[in-house]
Amino acid sequence: MRQPALTTTVSYQALQSHAAEARDWQMRQLFAADPQRFPALTVDAAGLFLDYSKNRLDGRTVELLVDLARERGVEAQRDAMFAGDKINLTEHRSVLHTALRMPRGKALVVDGQDVNADVHAVLDRVKAFTDKVRNGTWLGYSGKPITDIVNIGIGGSDLGPKMAVLALRSYAHPRLKMHFVSNVDGHDMDAVLAQVNHETTLFIVASKTFTTAETMLNAQTARRWFLCEGREEDLARHFVAVSTNKEAVSKFGIDLDNMFPFWDWVGGRYSVWSAIGLSVALAVGFGYFQTMLEGAHAMDEHFRTAPLAQNMPVLLALIGFWNRQFLGATSLSIAPYHQDLNRFPAYLQQLDMESNGKRVTKGGQPVDTPTCPIVWGECGTNAQHAYFQLLHQGTDVVPIDFIAALRATHDLAGHHDALLANCFAQSEAFMKGKSADEVRAELQAQGLTDAKIDELVPHKTFPGNRPSNTILMDQLTPATLGALIALYEHKTFVQGVIWDIASFDQWGVELGKVLAKKIQAELEGDVDPGAHDSSTNGLIVMAKGAKVP
Ligand code: F6P
Repeated sequence: MRQPALTTTVSYQALQSHAAEARDWQMRQLFAADPQRFPALTVDAAGLFLDYSKNRLDGRTVELLVDLARERGVEAQRDAMFAGDKINLTEHRSVLHTALRMPRGKALVVDGQDVNADVHAVLDRVKAFTDKVRNGTWLGYSGKPITDIVNIGIGGSDLGPKMAVLALRSYAHPRLKMHFVSNVDGHDMDAVLAQVNHETTLFIVASKTFTTAETMLNAQTARRWFLCEGREEDLARHFVAVSTNKEAVSKFGIDLDNMFPFWDWVGGRYSVWSAIGLSVALAVGFGYFQTMLEGAHAMDEHFRTAPLAQNMPVLLALIGFWNRQFLGATSLSIAPYHQDLNRFPAYLQQLDMESNGKRVTKGGQPVDTPTCPIVWGECGTNAQHAYFQLLHQGTDVVPIDFIAALRATHDLAGHHDALLANCFAQSEAFMKGKSADEVRAELQAQGLTDAKIDELVPHKTFPGNRPSNTILMDQLTPATLGALIALYEHKTFVQGVIWDIASFDQWGVELGKVLAKKIQAELEGDVDPGAHDSSTNGLIVMAKGAKVP
């Protein structure tokens, strides 16, 4: 259904008037005025807790935002997604990553195909295979068990598995060392090949399309490397594929018995739940992989059934929209206070920006508001000693999502309290800031002269009133990780619905791919570059000149 332009909707206009009042609100005052602010602006779901009270909003703001979600049809579109309707309009596909984590036996038939049965048939194969590799009965060509697994993939075929394997590090198999090669830059593959042994390495070629140039080149290189020691007939013990493209897998020389399929209704950036998660299941075992799926399913159920005003992904999306639209936030910083979530910001970059980094509506009209903010981030406390300065005192307002676990998965004394203290202190500091009067009083107490105080006050003042969310879980486990990823997936979906964006395609990555092919031919051959602008021509000439004849 064609949506009206966002700014013409009744609920948007109500929000706009409300935002004019809210512009001058100070969070310090909002907290002082309402002792119930924390319980009122927090929500629990699927093992996660979201505190959104440190945002420049109140209960009325949330009501108006929820009205907007309703007017934009979030509930109907959510239901359409879960039902398998073809909501990926430009590619005419269903969007069914939620089906990948549905318990066995739940009925879901799309285009006459029993999706649930298909999903569980592949999961059964993933279990059988990963059990064998993990218990040492899957042997390399010389009869030794596998010790190293190299996942070759890029984008969604890399970021999700890599992030999850690191996040669940404490559940990992002691014998299996996981490696990820994604970049077409040979230094990536070179660094991994230097660490592994032909006899005991298993390569997973992970690519939805099995045509992605980087992955195909890396896979060919791995194959060539392997054949320096192994024989063609040994390939089947050392190469498996995860893909939707049987023909290309077969053409590459991977036995179809060693191929784990998935389906075109799984978007690349939503694919960690499919067989693309093979490396995760190998690392942590199928049981924990399944627990991760269950955690995501719990969040799906919450998203599907909770009223919008108590719906965690919906709230996270609406707050993000509020900050983007009415506070002018152009970016969103993700700050996991958990070292094992080190790759989570990178994962979210693809999820959010590849989904909603668009400028036209589903109907092809320009979106009449800003869309997806730039997503970036780094683990706390490291981030504090790098760029938090700008977040505290710079000229831009950058909302932050703090993510932390109440309990650690290690038992090193003293660390976890220090970590959580920093996490909570930062969100408090962003919210409260430090006024000029407070700074002045502090400096007077230290006995500084008035002249020195006048000099220092502007530098030591923190404006505060900077928004953040805090997402807590008891512990980072397969289940809470699953719920966390699903939370952000659904958040991204809801924002796409509000903006009326086609969130499930990614045409924007195509142009560079086409040009790279052309330039590669020019770099490799005798083709005279000249058809480009002078900058591109100049760079090509330099690269050709640097080649050793
Ligand atoms: O080029 C972007 C993209 O299509 C992503 O959406 C996707 O995750 C990535 O490339 C990898 O694609 P594939 O799994 O088909 O190799």
